[in-house]
Amino acid sequence: MNKKQSSPWNEIPLEDYEKHMSHNSVGQLEVLNTLTKKYLSRIKPKTCLFLGVAGGNGLGNIDNSITQNVFGIDINQDYLNKAKERYGETIASLELINFDITSDKKVFCKADFIWAGLVLEYTGIDKSLDFSINNLQPDGNLIVSIQSNNGVQSVSRSGIESVQKVGSIFQLIDPEILIDKAVKMGLKLIENEESFFPNGKSLKTFHFKI
Ligand SMILES: C[S@@+](CC[C@H](N)C(=O)[O-])C[C@H]1O[C@@H](n2cnc3c(N)ncnc32)[C@H](O)[C@@H]1O
Repeated sequence: MNKKQSSPWNEIPLEDYEKHMSHNSVGQLEVLNTLTKKYLSRIKPKTCLFLGVAGGNGLGNIDNSITQNVFGIDINQDYLNKAKERYGETIASLELINFDITSDKKVFCKADFIWAGLVLEYTGIDKSLDFSINNLQPDGNLIVSIQSNNGVQSVSRSGIESVQKVGSIFQLIDPEILIDKAVKMGLKLIENEESFFPNGKSLKTFHFKI
């Protein structure tokens, strides 16, 4: 069995994931969507790539008159099918790719904006940065959002049990290590911010440029 087939992400129905992420005590889906909107309007990318795009959270903020090429990658084909159903008609350029970003640093595009919202926890810093750098154009932007637990358990209790499966591969990302590795790989940190959730956790977002 290869890594792609064995990922616990392939065992979680999108409905469960989205219910979990929208739960009052979690509240992450909306914050991630708002962050996507903010950085899309700041960067105004021609080509953007969403890593771990799932069901397309954030794609509703794409302005086709500005962004002419939109790529989304995910390890779960069912999630991509749903994203296509939701956004395939409104974003004509949308290309959804079923790929394990830890398997190969293959080049799919040269993006001026890569969005990685809550993905590094499952794909690791090194492979995610490698993959992103290979898919960024010179002067491109990489926005990474990571979870900060602030003493609360990693995969929150929302009553949706299937999502607990990803707890087995979840690794909390240390922001200092992320910045250090990114800088060593040639990225510059432009700015960072923190968004808090009702359950006490937060999202730390880092804007890097190559
Ligand atoms: C916590 S979700 C984040 C989803 C999305 N960014 C959002 O705003 O809701 C992580 C996503 O990364 C995907 N993923 C996990 N490991 C992956 C890998 N190795 N390669 C590609 N996608 C992966 C999962 O299937 C899932 O859709």
